[in-house]
Amino acid sequence: MTSRIIGTGSYVPEHIVTNDDLAKIVETSDEWILERTGIRERRIGIEEGTSFMAAKAAQRALENAGAEAEELDLILLATSSPDHCFPNGACEVQAAIGAVNATAFDISAACSGFEFALSTVQAFVQSGVYKTALVIGVDCLSKLTDWTDRGTCVLFGDGAGAAIVRAEETGIIHTVMGSDGVRGAVLSCAARNNGNFLNGKQPELDYIYMNGQEVFKFAVKKVPECIRQLLDESDTDIGDVKYFVLHQANSRICESVAKRLKQPMEKVPMNIDRYGNTSGATVPILLDELNRNGQLNRGDKLILAGFGGGLTWGAVLLEW
Ligand code: ACO
Repeated sequence: MTSRIIGTGSYVPEHIVTNDDLAKIVETSDEWILERTGIRERRIGIEEGTSFMAAKAAQRALENAGAEAEELDLILLATSSPDHCFPNGACEVQAAIGAVNATAFDISAACSGFEFALSTVQAFVQSGVYKTALVIGVDCLSKLTDWTDRGTCVLFGDGAGAAIVRAEETGIIHTVMGSDGVRGAVLSCAARNNGNFLNGKQPELDYIYMNGQEVFKFAVKKVPECIRQLLDESDTDIGDVKYFVLHQANSRICESVAKRLKQPMEKVPMNIDRYGNTSGATVPILLDELNRNGQLNRGDKLILAGFGGGLTWGAVLLEW
């Protein structure tokens, strides 16, 4: 028994912020952003927060799967920008969609979160604990972004993607996950620290910090490496993979991964131009687009792969 994706959904905020809009608040240009990252515009939530976007994506995934919320026995929500410390985002989605029979919790693995969540669902399904799961990748990084730092504020966008996963005979073939906490400082965002009565610390707020070049080097090495591991361990020919659905952090990273794997860019779809880096949401949003555009047929082999803060990386080989 394995787990198969039977429906997908996504949601991005209505408000579009173009590169020219950002050039009004920091010293940058449409030309610089497009050439270095592939991003033309991104969506930023004005009122739409993490759980709101996640619930919208979840409802669309349920509709796409033709499933009812009551059928769900597990909700895993991957995010590094929850609205609250508790209740967790998965419980908020549970309440919003009426998934009264589900156990719900969050997973934190930054941009690899969706792959980590899918791998976790797979372990639960294979061991017979759960049968029908909702998996969500969602981030609202706009609230953690320093809007005066041109090195990071041009990169991110807000959004959510979701998948309904069910125990079936075919579906996920193999998963790979990895972490390197020693290098965690290259990409970080401290949580709010209110201090306590003993240490006398004052409340602090922090923003995303990123050493872009270090993250770039890590990504172009680690993503091909973990995809090769996935293929080797599952005895799969790379030529049999229809699409590599990669984390959308930078179009140059996607191009470099394709080159290292000796795969044509037609097999590496991208939508970073429209949404920027939505962190844990990029892979499920892209998957939903491929699904709704009719580009996926039953039996197609796909690889989903993400990398991000932690550092973390993860890849999933599945049959559609
Ligand atoms: N506009 C104009 N100039 C800029 C901007 C900007 N928005 N940002 C930086 N610059 C300048 C720098 O100040 C620097 O100027 P200097 O040469 O005078 O010092 C110059 O451009 C070059 O800067 P670099 O950092 O070397 O630019 P680089 O080509 O490396 O591109 C980028 C930067 C786009 C961030 C790239 O390193 C990258 O994409 N890295 C990977 C990021 C990533 O994948 N993040 C995902 C993880 S997110 C997560 O997990 C939550």
